Amino acid sequence: MKIGSLVLENPLILAPMAGITQLPFRRLAKEAGCALVVTEMVSANGLVHGGRKTVELLKSHPSERPLSVQIFGADPAVMQEAARIVQAQGADLLDINLGCSVRKVVRQGAGAALMGQPEKLGAILKAVRGVVDVPLTIKIRSGWEPSGDQAVAVTRVAEDAGVDAVAIHPRTALQGFGGRADWSLIARLKQCVSIPVVGNGDVRTPDDVVRMQRETGCDAVMVGRASIGNPWIFTQALELLHSRRPRSPDLSERLHGTLRYIDNNVNHFGEARAVRMMRSRVPWFVKGLPGCSRFRSSIIRLKSRQEMRDAVQAYFEELQTSDVKP
Ligand SMILES: Cc1cc2nc3c(=O)[nH]c(=O)nc-3n(C[C@H](O)[C@H](O)[C@H](O)COP(=O)(O)O)c2cc1C
Repeated sequence: MKIGSLVLENPLILAPMAGITQLPFRRLAKEAGCALVVTEMVSANGLVHGGRKTVELLKSHPSERPLSVQIFGADPAVMQEAARIVQAQGADLLDINLGCSVRKVVRQGAGAALMGQPEKLGAILKAVRGVVDVPLTIKIRSGWEPSGDQAVAVTRVAEDAGVDAVAIHPRTALQGFGGRADWSLIARLKQCVSIPVVGNGDVRTPDDVVRMQRETGCDAVMVGRASIGNPWIFTQALELLHSRRPRSPDLSERLHGTLRYIDNNVNHFGEARAVRMMRSRVPWFVKGLPGCSRFRSSIIRLKSRQEMRDAVQAYFEELQTSDVKP
């Protein structure tokens, strides 16, 4: 699979997720085998004005490369300047968010709002393409109505502007996360355009990865929610893609993944902030395991990395020795 000049090792991509696909989580997903990771959406305005929190979102680590940075915005000049900044910071790809439908974003004319404004979108994409050499991608939804015609039209505009690939989450902007992703639109888009098409939406299991590729002919599969607390979905999907039987992570792999996640967060955010975040995030990794809600309540007052690591280790030791195995 090739996006512009960039060759991906395999067809598995971690979806951008605000508040989740920060560097600590991207590193886990990459270790688990996905070929490409994407930052959460970064405000072009914030980048251009040098907001500390926005710039922090661009922090990367060699182990996660290649890295795609996603930006959102509505003004061609601001998007162009933001794109320059992203490239100068070392991103391997630049992705433009055309799918976000939250009110705050749509109200400023950004994200999914641009799917209804092909001329303005064309101006933005051309302005950005003019200043970046790295591959340029877009991430879209079906559009504002279910037919999917807007998705096809917008992708054609993007192709003309020199965009190298499109990722589609085939739900309408109004749907949010309701209903089901309409995979038939991924197949249709693949027939209509010549740039690579990345399929996304409702991939819940490793089997779904293979099924999406088979049913839609998409060039790569992007996984979002199913990877939260379960980066091993990429390892398992890779096995399946190589016609091998996938194996679920054992308790020791889950334990060590969770501990690495804690350490990655402490290194990235500093101990106090990371530990506060871990109180709600570490439970992602034990979801569905015996006694997970008791474990969740037991960590809400923890204050240090060591306490958090000890609690996780104790919980997994208990699981190892208990009769009830996950
Ligand atoms: C918590 C959360 C945050 C998200 N943030 C972004 C984002 O910043 N940019 C974006 O393009 N999509 C974002 N998405 C959408 C996902 O990238 C993806 O398109 C969607 O979740 C469907 O894929 P899935 O069914 O595999 O989760 C977000 C989704 C979730 C659940």
